[in-house]
Amino acid sequence: MYIAFEGVDTVGKSTQINRIAERFADVLVTREPGGTPLGRKIRSILLDEGDALPRSELLLFLADRAEHTERVIRPNLNRLILSDRSFISGIAYAHVYDNIEIDTLLQLNRFATKNTFPELIVLFRIEEDELHRRMEQKKEDAIETRGIGYMLEVQKTMIELVDLLKIRHIIVDAAEPIEILTEKIYSYIKDCYR
Ligand code: TMP
Repeated sequence: MYIAFEGVDTVGKSTQINRIAERFADVLVTREPGGTPLGRKIRSILLDEGDALPRSELLLFLADRAEHTERVIRPNLNRLILSDRSFISGIAYAHVYDNIEIDTLLQLNRFATKNTFPELIVLFRIEEDELHRRMEQKKEDAIETRGIGYMLEVQKTMIELVDLLKIRHIIVDAAEPIEILTEKIYSYIKDCYR
């Protein structure tokens, strides 16, 4: 079962992925961008350099996703896959950044993944004040420098998308204590993964 953890930066996705992974026997933990050798190069171009035009940036994220889906996700669909981000980030960040229509972005993502989308999404939501607090404590990458307003719009788009696309999902509150979040996410996944 292919599960993606989604939400804007700082919400705690990777912490929860690692904690959930410890509770299952045969888990594959992976990420976008950067889940393959080519993806790691693309990740560095996008996040360390950060001077690509919006559409070049989108196409690079899609190239990362094509590699990741074909080489990592599709061969392991019989296992439990926990991925830090997916096409949901792909659509939401690009839609808000460059105002590209959702439908166009969906088509591009269908092409890149050959229609392989996550079965389940764990979506983290964070309030503006808390996002401010967390962003002040970290060094921003090229995309995070677009600011809190951008990230809140991305978050709103992500929430709309999981509804629009009718993907099974749980929305969790990023401000909850780590242990409680793990219990909630674990029991949701356990019920779905039988
Ligand atoms: P992260 O791995 O630390 O979450 O950083 C990835 C950054 O890239 C994050 O700011 C979200 C952004 N992103 C996009 O803009 N488009 C995408 O398709 C993906 C996967 C991530």
